[in-house]
Amino acid sequence: MARPDPHSYNDSTQPETETLDWKARVDFRTHRLHAEATLTLKEASAGPLDLDTRDLEILRVVDGNGRPLPYMLAPPEPILGSRLRVELPSGVRQLTVHYRTSPTASALQWLTPSQTAGGQHPFLYSQCQAIHARSVVPLQDTPRIRIRYRASLRVPKALKAVMAASFVRREEHGVEAEEHYEMPQPVPPYLLAFAVGSLAPKELGPRSRVWAEPELLEDAAEEFSGVDDMLRAAESLFGPYDWERFDLLTMPPSFPYGGMENPRLTFLTPTLIAGDKSLVNVVAHELAHSWTGNLVTNASAEHFWLNEGFTVFAERRILEALAGPEVAALNAALGRRALDEALHHFREHPHLTALRTHLTGVDPDEAFSQIPYEKGYLFLRAMEDAVGREAFDGFLRRYLATYRFRALTTEEFIAFTERELPGVLAKVDAEAYLQRPGVPASAPSPRSSRLEALQRARGTVPSVEAAKDWTPAEWQLFLEWMPSDAPRDLFRQLDERFAFTRSRNSEVLVAWLVAALRAGWGPAVGRTEAFLGEVGRMKYLKPLYGVLAASREHRALARSLFKQYGERYHPIARQGVELILSRA
Ligand code: BES
Ligand code: ZN
Repeated sequence: MARPDPHSYNDSTQPETETLDWKARVDFRTHRLHAEATLTLKEASAGPLDLDTRDLEILRVVDGNGRPLPYMLAPPEPILGSRLRVELPSGVRQLTVHYRTSPTASALQWLTPSQTAGGQHPFLYSQCQAIHARSVVPLQDTPRIRIRYRASLRVPKALKAVMAASFVRREEHGVEAEEHYEMPQPVPPYLLAFAVGSLAPKELGPRSRVWAEPELLEDAAEEFSGVDDMLRAAESLFGPYDWERFDLLTMPPSFPYGGMENPRLTFLTPTLIAGDKSLVNVVAHELAHSWTGNLVTNASAEHFWLNEGFTVFAERRILEALAGPEVAALNAALGRRALDEALHHFREHPHLTALRTHLTGVDPDEAFSQIPYEKGYLFLRAMEDAVGREAFDGFLRRYLATYRFRALTTEEFIAFTERELPGVLAKVDAEAYLQRPGVPASAPSPRSSRLEALQRARGTVPSVEAAKDWTPAEWQLFLEWMPSDAPRDLFRQLDERFAFTRSRNSEVLVAWLVAALRAGWGPAVGRTEAFLGEVGRMKYLKPLYGVLAASREHRALARSLFKQYGERYHPIARQGVELILSRA
């Protein structure tokens, strides 16, 4: 027996899944999917086949001819879920599992009409990364095993079902509609994704449209109108786009992430709709995953930096190409701030601050931080600085060509880099990034004249004149750099002059609220309460609940807000906040 991924029951001596045929009926009344999953294996081989499941109710398992197959569902293990072991007789290459999901499936969020913009229809969506696909489909839930799939979703006729796949057709049967999709390119299971709700499309360019609730559609289309330019900039950097379409889905506000790179259909938080395109770096990030992550994939959560570090690097290259080096440098400075914060947060778990992690017994959602993103970025920047941009771009292209539609480990990355750029790893002290905690002193640091000006403004109330052309990213940095002993009165003056409490830019707003709450500036509390009732993005929930829970004055408020609003958050976000409150 060999289990190469600590977060999967997959045994690498067993046959791998080649394709999945998935049919599900979405039941908004019971919050369940009634489903069947047919797995076709790459080869027939008699013996046990181990699948990952979480909270699935297995009804029966049959072979390709409908004959029952013996199976055993093991008791659940807290992180991995339950192993479903099916005994395959010789010659059997196909099996079908009939099952239903749990109303508390960790990947799914079921929203009431009142949790949507329109207020009329319910909404359902999935979020499978890192190991939640198993709560929706029984499968080998490891990114080492890529699958092609066909899927059909039966939903109430008033609703639209979208999937991160290619649309085939919609059929209507009585009060229901059946939407068919297929994913012809092999993808890791964490990229399986769908959403069901009152959704309408608007074209953005020859390869892109945006989906949103009708109430949000115009604003979303305006915010994301630059997507085609982004796509072309990315192709000129990383080579042809392999996924045909790059569509966007504007999620309800409870979506726990800023964005999720589901292939052909990136999921985006509505908090990106700031009205001025100032947060579209998140779109650049998810687009960049089309190369780094979706094409070349981390072999497990222990190598997550290969997905995210490369993607942050690629995101900033796209940004630089479209908006110039100053904008990219500001984003890198925000990244460095977030990295320092994360290093502080994990100070008692330094092993989680190396890029190459060891996660046996650790939930990937709990290990999640900005470290793989920003330390990974610094590492790749250091390599680029060491060999020069031209050589590094060539390296990147060869890396993408070599590993396309495959998964790799950090160790394979090291071997590849030694071959392609001999000596560079030693030169940048790769060991320090990959295997050791913290950030090496030699790490590149972003520099720009605008950054220097901001540094000089630290802890002051700038004049309207001095700050008249600051971008939202600069305001965010200004607020995040606020000295921790800044007096309350400074916050009153700042808000009077710049009205942060009313900011439409969620990054600026949250940076403001966190700084103001930390300083004990009372008027920030009301806005924070309202925000926590609307938005479920973890990037915001964690610092806001964190800063409330850290103050003796507001700890009880944090608990009561969570009691009131917890139900509105996605299960992953709920778990994240619970952890923060339990440690406070
Ligand atoms: N793939 C991630 C989101 C994710 C990571 C979901 C791990 C589940 C487990 C996505 O690409 C991402 O990184 N989103 C960021 C965007 C940012 C870095 C621009 C986010 O949500 O904030
Ligand atoms: Zn990402």
